[in-house]
Amino acid sequence: MRLNPFVTTLALTFSALTSLSAQAQNTTPIKVGLMLPATGTFAALGSMIESGFKLYVQEQGGKLAGREIQYFKVDDESEPSKATDNVNKLIKRDNVDVLVGTVHSGVALAMAKAAKDSNTLLIVPNAGADAITGAMCAPNIVRSSFSNWQPGYSTGVVAAQKGYKRAMTITWNYTAGNETVKGFTEAFEMGGGKVMKGLTLSFPNVEFQALLTEIAAQKPDVVFAFFAGDGAVKFVKDYAAAGLNKSIPLFGSGFLTDGTLEAQGAAAQGLFTTLHYADNLDTPRNNAFRKSFALTYKANADVYAVQGYDAAQILAAGLKAVNGDLSKREALTAAMHKTTVDSPRGKFTLSPAGNPVQDMYLREAKGINNEFRGVAVKALADPARGCKL
Ligand code: BEZ
Repeated sequence: MRLNPFVTTLALTFSALTSLSAQAQNTTPIKVGLMLPATGTFAALGSMIESGFKLYVQEQGGKLAGREIQYFKVDDESEPSKATDNVNKLIKRDNVDVLVGTVHSGVALAMAKAAKDSNTLLIVPNAGADAITGAMCAPNIVRSSFSNWQPGYSTGVVAAQKGYKRAMTITWNYTAGNETVKGFTEAFEMGGGKVMKGLTLSFPNVEFQALLTEIAAQKPDVVFAFFAGDGAVKFVKDYAAAGLNKSIPLFGSGFLTDGTLEAQGAAAQGLFTTLHYADNLDTPRNNAFRKSFALTYKANADVYAVQGYDAAQILAAGLKAVNGDLSKREALTAAMHKTTVDSPRGKFTLSPAGNPVQDMYLREAKGINNEFRGVAVKALADPARGCKL
């Protein structure tokens, strides 16, 4: 067959232009959309995640796989009713390449739906909503944090091992609270205990008095609580002020005392929680991370900072595999899923559903640290119920 020289020239020119445009794109910044709470009960958590993410990028010289990072920000207020509008500001208005967010499970569920619908990359740096790496799992979605089931389950294991038989639970009535309690109940009852009653109040309400009175009247062997941020500070203080800390042990997923110990003061001392991080993990990786965080921000890192830092590490792993070329989507998302993250919490991998498979630590609150007391459950993988990939 003889080729028409005009068509050949045109084809070559087109291919050269396409390759030039790909090269040009690879020199433009990667647009990262940070959707986090900057106001409300989880504001401090959002700020720590952002600091952690930016710290990792800064440690790489401000670039990932040779590309600058440009940030776009939305305060999601931990408000699910505004979540779809908020995430669309980043997807449609700012045209971000990757979404990073958020803290609140209800808001994150809306983000995951929007990310799936628009096929935007999403890295969840906190919110534990089980469905995100369960029924809603997708190649373009990964999490650097935990599923709500994980810390609930590991605390249930510990409470049952300690020999407690009758538990009461208390939390906000929303996705994270309910799923964490479910994880706790599953392990606690498998270990021979019984959850007598679950108490709830609406998010982000902190009027705990009537519920504490009920706990005092029922006298369970142990109380399991899920609260975080400012709500956790108030709950732990109210529990102690009611004198309950002297008679009924309080257990929680680690959010009850993470990033909150200074504000909780004496009321939190000696509390046992489980989580995928402990402040004083004496490893070169954690020590270096905490030093770098403290030098940069004049503040102590917490679990939220770690999750933000690791979100950036997961993105970096994906970008490295494709040399910064976002158009190689399949290779990029596959590399994100396959990476072993060298985290301050310890190395971890992601499950096929995109959730960390990680050690859950037993911690005790001492001074301003959640100190390591042992491994509660080794390499705990979320069951990823309903995930079909
Ligand atoms: C959540 O809503 O998923 C959540 C919020 C704060 C701490 C942990 C989980």
